[in-house]
Amino acid sequence: MVDKLNIGVFASGRGSNFLAILQAIKQGRITNAEIALVISNKADAGALEIARSNNIPAAHLDQKQFTSEDEFTKALILILDEYCVNFIVLAGYLKKLSPAIIRRFRNRIVNIHPALLPAFGGKGMYGLRVHEAVIACGARISGASVHIVDEEYDHGPVVLQRTVEVAGDETPETLAQKVLNVEHGLYAEAIRLFAEGKVKVNGQSVTILS
Ligand code: GRF
Repeated sequence: MVDKLNIGVFASGRGSNFLAILQAIKQGRITNAEIALVISNKADAGALEIARSNNIPAAHLDQKQFTSEDEFTKALILILDEYCVNFIVLAGYLKKLSPAIIRRFRNRIVNIHPALLPAFGGKGMYGLRVHEAVIACGARISGASVHIVDEEYDHGPVVLQRTVEVAGDETPETLAQKVLNVEHGLYAEAIRLFAEGKVKVNGQSVTILS
């Protein structure tokens, strides 16, 4: 029997991936999981609004509210423990998690990135910049990647990927939308696999059990 995923979502923006996962749980496409808490570094994040309107605890926590990174990390760990979070989903969270949190949740933190990692990832690669870089190098395919979060940006092992074609007349905006359309299903699918205990992580290698 796999422990129920008690998910803490971290998001900085509109929260469409969070909403997709929430809907998948509500509709029973993901079982053995619930969203315990949503944390954002932005007070006006759409993700916090979505959480509140679904009666999910929502917290605005930003390092600027604390005297040091350590104090901020302590506050995050406290609230994650208070809500019994045992799995973290980064859904458009633009801050790096501290090493203490990554250690505590080793192999239990996932992120979604709007390109085919390990290409087009790393510090500064977020939002339209990713899609601009994909188009600028003439890639014919792009996509989305769900990966385990480790101490480096967009670096941990990949769990699932899905591709999209890059059209000849693609703009960063159209490509962002195309990729986002596949992100929602892909992220929900990845969470389902974790909730069913089908993802085994060993160092840089991920095995998906059937
Ligand atoms: C997505 O494109 C995701 O790949 C990236 O941040 C964006 C978040 O979008 N990590 P949303 O807030 O989930 O709508």
